[in-house]
Amino acid sequence: MARRTPKFALPAAWPARALVGLRARLLAWFDANRRDLPWRAAPDGRRDPYRVWVSEVMLQQTTVAAVVPYFERFVAALPTVRALAAADEQRVLKLWEGLGYYRRARHLYAAAQRLVRDHAGELPDDPAVWAALPGVGRYILGAVLSQAFDRRLPIVEANSLRVLARLFGFRGDPREGEGKAWVWAAAEAVLPAKRCGDFNQALMELGALVCKPAVPDCARCPLAARCGANRLGLQSAIPPKKPAPAITAVNEVGVVVRDGAKVLLCQRPATAGRWQNMWEVPHAPRGDGEDLSAAAARVARELTGFAVEPGAELVLIRHGVTRYAITLACVEAARAGGAFAPGAYAAAEWVAPAELADYPVSAPQRKLMTALANPAPRLF
Ligand code: ADE
Repeated sequence: MARRTPKFALPAAWPARALVGLRARLLAWFDANRRDLPWRAAPDGRRDPYRVWVSEVMLQQTTVAAVVPYFERFVAALPTVRALAAADEQRVLKLWEGLGYYRRARHLYAAAQRLVRDHAGELPDDPAVWAALPGVGRYILGAVLSQAFDRRLPIVEANSLRVLARLFGFRGDPREGEGKAWVWAAAEAVLPAKRCGDFNQALMELGALVCKPAVPDCARCPLAARCGANRLGLQSAIPPKKPAPAITAVNEVGVVVRDGAKVLLCQRPATAGRWQNMWEVPHAPRGDGEDLSAAAARVARELTGFAVEPGAELVLIRHGVTRYAITLACVEAARAGGAFAPGAYAAAEWVAPAELADYPVSAPQRKLMTALANPAPRLF
């Protein structure tokens, strides 16, 4: 790894011996307050590097509460790196369904195959090997190697970034440019010589449980006496808030093409921007003022090659993806002619509603498919 961390100078209020106290206080706090999370200990009390890795990939971009059930299901189904590497990609995506950011799952899977092929299925204690794996950036590298092998490598994610910026009273933006280099250097400087994995987790845990974004609970903080933000009363200004992204509204139409009791399910290509290789009913933005039935017929024709007779609107689904607020109007349509033309989609299948649950789909498409598999009773 060619990465260089700039030298970190402790603020004047921090004599070097204060770092020794900081480490001891934070580790003691962690020992007494750590949440009992399923990746924190293997059944025999050891840290299994595979479980650490899977958990840390899931925890990037996702909360602990959301991750726990996914983690348990994933490692029960695929308990080792060899099991993951040997699985079908569709199974891996299905286990990830609902967690979002599916590129993480594809990278995890590709990296597992690489580890089986080139490293006999072992998770090595070697930063250079990890740095070359798909999906492994500085965070995953530090998180896995510090927790699994007690390597002295730093981590920075949203919680530890906030803790470090407040602790040292850092007034810049630690997410960008020099501020980012500063926070990584600080994360490295504070690490003890031993128990690095616990220390990294303690920083994150303190951020999650005490040093919270809006209202930190400084009265319960083991580091409050030395905290720069606390001393200056700047807890709510450090770190500076990220401006909320501008939200763009998008109106889409989705077409549930029926042929008898089956519906048309299409597979997104491996080159799609998001949801690669996952399944869906065809959908696309609706033209300005475009009639819903006309839009449904156009979208079916353009994306799949089928001619359809549009029918009733089935369900309206609202969902947010990154900075888009999408309203998806789903229309039922009968297959009227034509044949599947690959292009927009890699493949298509006619699927009975009860079998829709077997396919990996995005969260909004799962809402639609749940509605298709459990149609509301018609009263008249
Ligand atoms: N967030 C990311 N990694 C974590 C971990 N190991 N424990 C708690 N929160 C986390």
